[in-house]
Formats: sequence, structure tokens, C-alpha cells
Amino acid sequence: MKNMLVTGGAGFIGSNFVHYILSHSSDVEKLVNLDLLTYAGNLENLVDIQEDSRYHFVHGDIRDRELVNRLFDEYNFDTVVHFAAESHVDRSIVDPEIFLTTNVIGTQMLLDAAKSHWKIHPEDKYSREYKPDVRYLQVSTDEVYGALGKTGMFQETTPLSPNSPYSASKASADMVVRAYHETFGLPVNITRCSNNYGPYQFPEKLIPLMIHNALEDKALPVYGDGMQIRDWLHVQDHCAAIATVLEKGRIGEVYNIGGNNEKANIQIVKLILQVLDKPESLIQHVQDRPGHDRRYAIDNTKITTELGWAPAHTFERGMAETIQWYLEHQKWTERITSGVYQQYYKNMYGKMNG
Ligand code: NAD
Ligand code: DAU
Repeated sequence: MKNMLVTGGAGFIGSNFVHYILSHSSDVEKLVNLDLLTYAGNLENLVDIQEDSRYHFVHGDIRDRELVNRLFDEYNFDTVVHFAAESHVDRSIVDPEIFLTTNVIGTQMLLDAAKSHWKIHPEDKYSREYKPDVRYLQVSTDEVYGALGKTGMFQETTPLSPNSPYSASKASADMVVRAYHETFGLPVNITRCSNNYGPYQFPEKLIPLMIHNALEDKALPVYGDGMQIRDWLHVQDHCAAIATVLEKGRIGEVYNIGGNNEKANIQIVKLILQVLDKPESLIQHVQDRPGHDRRYAIDNTKITTELGWAPAHTFERGMAETIQWYLEHQKWTERITSGVYQQYYKNMYGKMNG
């Protein structure tokens, strides 16, 4: 039976992952969700599982060394899945510092706690019998690879070349994870996924923001020409991929996760307008994001052939379900977009008409 620490389990992907594990992994005896509840953390995402006796919520900061060590002592974790992060590129352009402290130093705190509690010997990793029953999984991103031209795909061997303070902080964290494996023999994996969509995503990100604005007949702010390309994956497919890496991934390996589903931003925005029966005149091209990566595409050959994972959602079905979810959960969006969100929106998009 496993005792799992999930960090950032009140955020978008983390809360989907907590749901996923509690409903799919009967070998998890305890799941502790450590989350600071920043603007992006929302316990409302987890109300339906709060009575589950396997689930424990801890309100706290991954950068709090004492707290993290105390949790390792108390729960004897054998698995760490690290989601907690500052995750929004635009915010990292306005205020990089918190991205560095949360995403890099926070990761190091968790690695230190795992290292000291798991008592791994560096030379163990060279032994043929090295099959540790503990695992640290770093949830990283395809953004660490930088931008692609019109052709090509990111492979696990593609050199890291991050372009935003956010992606630089994630790439730095990946380097620290790698170093703890190489130097201390810590049994780690790193996963690098493309853009996720699905329920519980904070409406600062493209898809929920556009749905929210369209429903309110507000302008839809498209950066630059809208021809930037992202690969999109349903969040539940991302969760299944992480569970697969935990179960079968080779120690020390990086796994790319992607949906083979490249779309230009403008295509996504037009699709949302079409499904909601709103006019394209709501689209407003605004100033581009500085350092905006033009194209991402993920080569997922390694995880599909080596571990047998494949996405279960088609983009068409996934998007239809997602738009429906936001239609049925407008109160959820309303609650998180009242208050400080208004100020954020004004700072970020204040110069827009409409
Ligand atoms: P999110 O912003 O929705 O959630 C982040 C969560 O981390 C929130 O619950 C927040 O309260 C918590 N948190 C922030 N700082 C913390 C701290 N110091 N201590 C404890 N908790 C803290 O993010 P997301 O979109 O769910 O992304 C989760 C992870 O997946 C991130 O590491 C991100 O880099 C990565 N990722 C995201 C995507 C995507 O498309 N969203 C794709 C690939 C990888
Ligand atoms: O690729 C994985 C990454 O995907 C994750 O690591 C990040 O945590 C996650 O936020 C996401 O980053 P992006 O910058 O790609 O996501 P975002 O939703 O902010 O933007 C998607 C695209 O849409 C991007 O090209 C910028 C554009 N965009 C975004 C917003 C918010 C707009 O044109 N207008 C907008 O208002």
C-alpha cells in the first residue's frame, strides 16, 4: 500500500489527479494534499472527496522545510507527485521572483526531505537489483524546451531552452531533480506535458478565459495574430500518464506527454465561439505576449511505446465535454472571478477596448 504526497492538489491538474488516484488506485492507502491555497488553489475542487478516509488536506507551503519534514515523519511517504507551482506565463512576466522561489526552491525542499527520509545510497543506482519502493515524480512542462519552428517536435533529448521566467523556473527545477538523481541516487522521474484543458482550470488560461468572456459577451483577447500553436491534451489523459509513469517508468527517466493535437490559438477561440453560438466579432487581437513561443509539439513515442500509455480523449469530444462543464459550473467560475481576479484582469488586459 502506498502513502502518497501530492503537492498543489487544489489547483487545476492537481485536483484532477487527486480525483483520479482516489478512484483508480486501490493501492493508495493515504493521499496527503499539501497546498498553500494561492489564488490558483481552490478547495471547492475537492468537496466531493473530502470525506474519503484516505484523503488528508494540509494547508501549507512547500518551501516550509520544517513542515515538509514533519509530514514525511508523520505519513511515511513512499511516493511524491509534485504539481505545486506558479504556473501562469503572463504572471511570470510581471513578477518573476515568486516563480523562482516556489518552483525552484520549493522543489529543492521536497527533494531534500525525500533524500533524508528515504535513506538512498548514491551507489545503489548502479546496482542491478536497484528496484526502490519509493519514487519522486516532478511534473514539468514542454515549455522547458523553448519554441519550435514550423516543423519538428520536442523529444526528451531536445536541449532545454526556456524563454519565459516561468519556463526558466521549471527548467531549473528539472535540473535540480536530475542532479539529486545523479548525485544522491534519488529515484526520480520527470514528466513534460503539453497544454492541458478540462474541468477546474483557473480562468486566466486560454480556454476557460475565452469561455468565460464569451458567456459574458465580453471581448476575447487574442495575443498577436493568434497563429501560435500549442499541443492540447485532456487533463484526465495527463493524470493517467502520470499514474503510468509512477507504475512503470524507468528510474531517472524523463517522459514527454502529449496528445498529437496541434492547434493554433485562433482555431480554439473560434471553436469556442461556434459551440457557444457567439459571434466572431467578439475576437479582439491585442498586443502579443513578450517572448511568446510560436509553436510547441510533443513527440510522445517514448511513453506510448515503452509504457503503453495513449490519450483516451479525442480533442473534439474533450472540448465538447469541457465547454459543457464550464456551462454547468458558472457559479464555480463566478466565485473565483469575483474579488482579486477583477484587479488581475484590469492589470493584464486594461488597455483593451470593450
Ligand atoms: P495551478 O496554477 O492551477 O495550480 C497550482 C497549485 O499549486 C495551486 O493549488 C496553488 O495553491 C499551489 N501552490 C502554489 N504555490 C505553492 C506553494 N508554495 N506551496 C504549496 N502549494 C502551492 O497549476 P496547474 O495548471 O494545475 O499546473 C500544475 C503543474 O503542472 C505545474 O507544476 C505546471 O508547471 C505543470 N504543467 C501544467 C500544464 C498546464 O497546461 N496547466 C501543462 C504541463 C505542466
Ligand atoms: O505547455 C504547457 C504550459 O501550458 C504549462 O506549462 C503552463 O503552466 C500553462 O499555463 C500553459 O502555458 P501557455 O502559456 O501555453 O497557456 P495559456 O493558456 O496562458 O496560453 C495558451 C496560448 O494562448 C498561448 O499561446 C497564449 C495565448 N493566449 C493566452 C491568453 C491567456 C491568448 O492569446 N490570449 C490570452 O488571453
